[in-house]
Amino acid sequence: MSQAQSIYERIGGRDGVEAVVSDFYDRVFDDPLLEPYFEDTDREALYAHQVQFISTVAGGPVSYDGADMQQAHEGMGISDEAFDRVATYLAEALRENDVTEDDVDAIIDQVADLQPDVVEQ
Ligand code: HEM
Repeated sequence: MSQAQSIYERIGGRDGVEAVVSDFYDRVFDDPLLEPYFEDTDREALYAHQVQFISTVAGGPVSYDGADMQQAHEGMGISDEAFDRVATYLAEALRENDVTEDDVDAIIDQVADLQPDVVEQ
């Protein structure tokens, strides 16, 4: 009997998550409402932490060593609208990379739970 696969495995492991994260930030940095937030950010470090973060959320064998979500976004004055856009771009990036609708929902449900930690308005 085969073991049940995790979302991480279904996405395609590390390569799959990297493709999703790359697609996700293309969308985020292309949005004039969101891009200014990232002006002073080391994008390579951000990308590496986001790969770890999404891998963890997807049940992968990866540990996230970045800041917790409240600390990472403190003082940015992030609105609900900005949060919704970021969550939407993540969902679009997942779909674009052939993640099934059930798996997209499972990831977005977990991300939605983080809204009170990220939003400050
Ligand atoms: C939708 C849920 C979100 C998740 C899961 C998320 C996740 C993350 C992660 C994992 C990091 C890396 C933290 C680190 O390197 O220690 C990060 C950093 C960051 N996030 Fe988010 N984020 C979300 C929403 C947002 C929104 C809505 C904005 C702004 C519009 C935003 C702006 C930023 C910025 C600017 C950084 C870099 C901070 C720095 O330069 O140190 N995030 N986020």
